[in-house]
Amino acid sequence: MSQQAQHSHETQEPETPHLDFQGTTPYEDYVQADVLTHLQHTLSDDPGEMVFLVTTQVMELWFTVIVHEWETAAKAVREDDVPVAVAALKRSVRELEALNASWKPLGQLTPAQFNSYRNALGEGSGFQSAMYRRMEFLLGEKSSSMLVPHRGAPRVHAELEKALHEPSLYDEVLRLLARRGHAIPSSVLERDVSLRYEPSAEVEAVWTSLYSGDESAELARLGEALTDVAELVWRWRNDHLVATRRAMGAKTGTGGSAGVAWLEKRAQKNVFPELWTARSHV
Ligand code: HEM
Repeated sequence: MSQQAQHSHETQEPETPHLDFQGTTPYEDYVQADVLTHLQHTLSDDPGEMVFLVTTQVMELWFTVIVHEWETAAKAVREDDVPVAVAALKRSVRELEALNASWKPLGQLTPAQFNSYRNALGEGSGFQSAMYRRMEFLLGEKSSSMLVPHRGAPRVHAELEKALHEPSLYDEVLRLLARRGHAIPSSVLERDVSLRYEPSAEVEAVWTSLYSGDESAELARLGEALTDVAELVWRWRNDHLVATRRAMGAKTGTGGSAGVAWLEKRAQKNVFPELWTARSHV
């Protein structure tokens, strides 16, 4: 290259992005940012309500991604593809961490700040989140009564009803353990999957034996990925509980529950129960 050519090459401006598009931008067509950023219909004049609404919407989006990951994992387990299941569970663990981090803007809400828009919420409550119920159903916490609030929304109701009658992620894992020769009782394998999963001593014994063996074995690693998920679900519930306690003390909830006392009971439980209790026997 001549000295002159090299000089002109060095002074050449880097290409700038394209500016001309026939219709909406390809970014918009893909992300639908215009739709997404015009869904913030606050109900009060209080400037603090915006972050409450957006945090709730952000959490709904994370719930949606996490449901997708757990459905992917459940299908992979059903097809005996444990590596694909573990990859989806690991993605969901990072997403749960991001979900939990989004408590930050609401974590220190004072009762006076929350009161500034609380009345405007009417009877609205996160209790009515259908995507959160889909998460719970996938974790094995089934309940047909949780469909009742959604009778007026046909698509949401149909999706929830389908999820109620499908085996949960945990049901699929226990069926996999049985296919791999572990003594999962038939009462568990043939259970009515639309009912809440109840812990079983035999399932606990299977996890105990898996955890007492080779820690790098495929099923032991699957157990640990599920435990990571369970821990972060527990953390979301407890962060929610503490944020609620700070924002409204012992008042009743907008959704009609006893509030903190009701949430305390819900936050105590661990999902995938035997993965926790088995640890006492290893
Ligand atoms: C600091 C603000 C918040 C307060 C004070 C609060 C308060 C409450 C209360 C009292 C309940 C019990 C049901 C009721 O009577 O309403 C509840 C349930 C619930 N909230 Fe919140 N919440 C807050 C933020 C959020 C956010 C941002 C979300 C995200 C979607 C959310 C999701 C839920 C869910 C999913 C439930 C049902 C929990 C279950 O069924 O175990 N909450 N909340």
